[in-house]
Amino acid sequence: MTEERNSKRISLFPLLPEDVSEVLERLSGRAVNQYEIIGLIENNQVMTEGLLKMLNKAMFGETKLNSLTDLVDMLGLPRMRYAVLAYGLNRFCTDTYLTHAHTTGLSAKITWEHAIAVAYIALELAKKIKYPRLEEVLLAGLIHDIGRQIIMLNRPEEYGELLGSIYGEVVDIIAQERTKLGLSHEHVGVMLVGHWHLPESISDVIEYHHNAETTSDNQILVHLVSLANQIAVSEGTSFEQGEKVNKDSNVSLYFLGLNGEDIDGAILSFHQNIGKFKSVFQ
Ligand SMILES: [Fe+2]
Ligand SMILES: [Fe+2]
Repeated sequence: MTEERNSKRISLFPLLPEDVSEVLERLSGRAVNQYEIIGLIENNQVMTEGLLKMLNKAMFGETKLNSLTDLVDMLGLPRMRYAVLAYGLNRFCTDTYLTHAHTTGLSAKITWEHAIAVAYIALELAKKIKYPRLEEVLLAGLIHDIGRQIIMLNRPEEYGELLGSIYGEVVDIIAQERTKLGLSHEHVGVMLVGHWHLPESISDVIEYHHNAETTSDNQILVHLVSLANQIAVSEGTSFEQGEKVNKDSNVSLYFLGLNGEDIDGAILSFHQNIGKFKSVFQ
């Protein structure tokens, strides 16, 4: 209830760039066909290149899709929504830390780089378990902490102070946010769902990524991002520090049918490849 009341102090929500919103709107129309969508995106060279670069890297690690037609043929229109949202989110997050360079710029940059790390690790784990929709995993990883970006936008000083106070400490970030700000980034992130018309699976990831065992829907996706988040935090990508994943008792590891070797493999791959992966997003 308190969290509900405090959320009224959050009024600024990020807007997706206009060209991205236009594509998303057309994608949600009933009579849309793939030639229309391809034509619309192709008129925008920056978006075309950005989408292809991002999806090639996330799915294959190399260029396999040479055109928008290849991409749309592979995903189909309903799944293009995840890809376009991931692209729009990148534009928003990158713009945010550049335009707020003197206030929340650094915090926003670290938060975005953490999200990219989570997306990379979640994709590695998803490939291991042969999860069928990698573009959904990409978006889920990138967007899971969007609530942090929104709190920064609305209450930059207080949130900056909180982040500074937990730097390098092993803490429960959700509990810290509730105590010091009266609301958590999970709660605030979910408030974006209506504004951006986000798919339900993505909403579940935003809401449950710190408590994956409590979700009853979209469990595989939520556990993938939750585990990737635990690994990314323990590898030093966030403000707070995290314990190493317990390979004998981690709930998400068990749920996904993965083992300690898979974790070690994902961590090694992360350190070897994150630099190149990150370059796609900047
Ligand atoms: Fe989080
Ligand atoms: Fe996170």
